[in-house]
Amino acid sequence: MSHRPTATPGSDIAAWWASAVVYQIYPRSFADANGDGMGDLLGVTARLPYLQRLGVDAIWLSPFYKSPQADAGYDVADYRQVDPMFGRLDDFDGMLRKAHSLGLKVIVDLVPNHTSDEHIWFQEALAAPPGSAERDRYMFRPGKDQVAGSGDGNLAPNNWKSIFGGPAWTRTTNPDGSSGDWYLHLFDTKQPDLNWENPEVQEEMRSVLRFWLDRGVDGFRVDVAHGMVKEAGLPDWDGVAAMVEGSADAGHLPDAPGAHSDAVEPHTAHHHHDPAGDDHSADNAGHQPVSPLYPPSPFFDQDGVHEIYRDWNRVLAGYDGDRMLVAEAWVEPAERLARYIRKDEMQQAFNFDFLLAGWDAQRMAVAIEDSLEAAASVGAPSTWVLSNHDTVRHTSRFGLADPTTFPKGIAAEDEQPDAGLGLARARAATLVSLALPGSTYVYQGEELGLPEHTTLPAEARQDPTFFRTNGIERGRDGCRVPLPWKSGEPGYGFADAYAGGGPSDGVSSGAGPSDGFSSDGGPGHRPPAPPWLPQPESFGELAADRQDGVEGSTLELYRSALSLRKRHGLGSGSFCWADMHDPELGVLAFQNRDILVIANMGTEPTPVPDGYHVELSSAPGAGAAEAAFGEAAFRERAFDEPAVVGASAGRPASHASAAASAALLGGTLDAAVIAPNTAAYLVAG
Ligand code: GLC
Repeated sequence: MSHRPTATPGSDIAAWWASAVVYQIYPRSFADANGDGMGDLLGVTARLPYLQRLGVDAIWLSPFYKSPQADAGYDVADYRQVDPMFGRLDDFDGMLRKAHSLGLKVIVDLVPNHTSDEHIWFQEALAAPPGSAERDRYMFRPGKDQVAGSGDGNLAPNNWKSIFGGPAWTRTTNPDGSSGDWYLHLFDTKQPDLNWENPEVQEEMRSVLRFWLDRGVDGFRVDVAHGMVKEAGLPDWDGVAAMVEGSADAGHLPDAPGAHSDAVEPHTAHHHHDPAGDDHSADNAGHQPVSPLYPPSPFFDQDGVHEIYRDWNRVLAGYDGDRMLVAEAWVEPAERLARYIRKDEMQQAFNFDFLLAGWDAQRMAVAIEDSLEAAASVGAPSTWVLSNHDTVRHTSRFGLADPTTFPKGIAAEDEQPDAGLGLARARAATLVSLALPGSTYVYQGEELGLPEHTTLPAEARQDPTFFRTNGIERGRDGCRVPLPWKSGEPGYGFADAYAGGGPSDGVSSGAGPSDGFSSDGGPGHRPPAPPWLPQPESFGELAADRQDGVEGSTLELYRSALSLRKRHGLGSGSFCWADMHDPELGVLAFQNRDILVIANMGTEPTPVPDGYHVELSSAPGAGAAEAAFGEAAFRERAFDEPAVVGASAGRPASHASAAASAALLGGTLDAAVIAPNTAAYLVAG
């Protein structure tokens, strides 16, 4: 591992997004203002003060557009309408105004690769004959055998598989009842791919951009940004494309101890991360590339997509206020991703290499170096992300026996994460990500230390990936569970915005009933419907009101880290590995401005260097372990598992004290060392 200083790209860019912390809101699960069990835009508005107080700079909302919700809104039926389940366009405008008045920027999701099959265009296409202008907006093709003249079109046009499982083609039925052409859907059957060679498609999406820009949005998160353009002739391809593996994990990250290369075990549904083609470790010599996207796929990361982003860059440039685009592009290696953020294309791309590194100092160090260098090569700032609505929450991933693993959801039959250990590591990793220069994305609920729901019953699951793989993939529902705002209320206060009475910061009380009903169960009170996905019991003790103002809680850790980041200008700061950086020993250490960041991912305590003191630590500290980790994890670690994970030297663990529990959970009370599974911000003096 080199100790070379690394360039700090983009620190000269003054635009807000270059150093912003962006909070991802998954509208279905953020806050429910009308008591129907589903989050909504009024719920978002009610909680904006909470986000302002948290200290983030911007929010990104996953889709709230009109949609049959076959893929939780990533199947858009009307790009200019709010789905009634989330409210009305007025509610969006009100939310946007309030966000701006609180100093928060707003990014919305744009889904340009596909529409819903219930979009008017697709309905028109189905009703129109082959070869028509209506059909040309999508990817309709006759069967392979029909083209060859050897059959009547029963064979799909090529062998592509859907990223969600099953074939990527569905055959249509003609208006007269006979079998017709096939259409391409890289995702669900209800998500037909658009034909991006069609100028009408290009113009429509420009117009959608302008529609939201005119309303005042600050940017767009571009869904499947690497997907729109397909290789000419749609050639067969024998690789396996998957979203989370992408192929981002295949190129550069060193093998983690204990990482397996057996790809899929149907009974566990764990897709083990398979780092191949490793050029950092001699152990891996001879390891063949087995990237899921090897050989390169004919439907992802085609050069043609960059034309689209150059075009959109010009659309945004016509507006004031540094509007931006952030790419969701699962491509590798980092240099390939950097092409999306060249000066005349998008402003940012999610850094999935960092997310995929897992809890492993060597892998994380490589991901940091590679990302900074790739971003520097195009003069753009880097981004950092640990969790989102498509991946198992990092709190839970880091509690698995192999904390670099990327399961596609977790079910009760699968390995269950160690909640306390996972949370200790997640808190530490968060301090790392918030101290790196560039922009950081935070997924809703991670500021509460929420775990994945790992025991959701099959009946509760809704993600199409679960159904299209016959449950082999557990799916993404476990990270999409509605947030707990208040511990004592039904649904842990998910519908508190519906039931309560007018908060100043969105935590201490509800946001005001929309219909005049009081929250005390008085006459006429209708209780809220249960949240659309069941919440695990642990959400009760992790609810926002239980952590608010409690020193050492995860919520207060995020607040402190975000405020320190701002005070010290870390987002637009500098980056350099520190002398004590030693990833082989599990110690990640870097300097950003006057802050020395040390993350201990190893097994031994690491000393605080002479002349430094700890300004902020991810360790919960005495008395705060329960608030930080929740009662269950606290009890489980303190009483059931006597092994000392993070106790500092010379301080024997006693099960009776909160202090010892903090140590067991990765904290330390010893100011002279940083315990394993802990990170800290230090300053000289
Ligand atoms: C993106 C979204 C994911 C969705 C997919 C298809 O990867 O993040 O949630 O299922 O695109 O639109």
